[in-house]
Amino acid sequence: MNMEVNKIFAAILTAGIVGMLCWFISHEVYEKEPLEKNAYEIAGVPSGGESGAAPAAAEKAEPIDVSKGDVALGAKISSVCASCHSLGKGEPAKIGPNLFGVVGGPHAHMEGYAYSDAMKAHASEKWTEAALNEFLWNPQKTIPGTKMTFMGLKKPEERAAIIHWLETQK
Ligand code: HEC
Repeated sequence: MNMEVNKIFAAILTAGIVGMLCWFISHEVYEKEPLEKNAYEIAGVPSGGESGAAPAAAEKAEPIDVSKGDVALGAKISSVCASCHSLGKGEPAKIGPNLFGVVGGPHAHMEGYAYSDAMKAHASEKWTEAALNEFLWNPQKTIPGTKMTFMGLKKPEERAAIIHWLETQK
């Protein structure tokens, strides 16, 4: 029975990864057209295009208590992050940078990774729990121009869970 559950989970995950990769590749191609990008910026339309039509939601992430985050739930959520991020110590970057030890470290913490200018501009700031809470809630809104094309974790308990899990990876 457990095997069946695993199979289903694996199938869903694979579909998700393939979908994300396709989307990401098209996004990368699109991003490399400077003219298009400028036109967007001048028009004041946030890059992210059609998805910008989200319903008028909260302006900021609700505060969370990371120490109460469910580490087991965090481990599950980490498989979503793992489609773009390596998570183990010393592992090479994927589409996104390695995340080992990111909590408490500086923004743009991975040496040699080609961060967006938007992320590099924050390099003097630390990834505190509060900063991660905001970023993971809505990456594009918190750091406009970031190349982390992830819609964010809207549920406070999910953000607390993943941040707590990241902290346990020592
Ligand atoms: C679709 C791919 C994708 C997914 C899914 C994704 N990320 Fe990212 N992430 C990126 C990219 C690309 C960057 C680099 C951002 C930049 O340079 O602007 C990034 C950057 C980050 C950073 C900043 C790292 C640093 O060194 O400053 C953190 C923290 C982060 N991601 C956490 C997460 C977590 C936690 C998850 C899962 C909940 C997640 N990401 C899911 C692509 C992704």
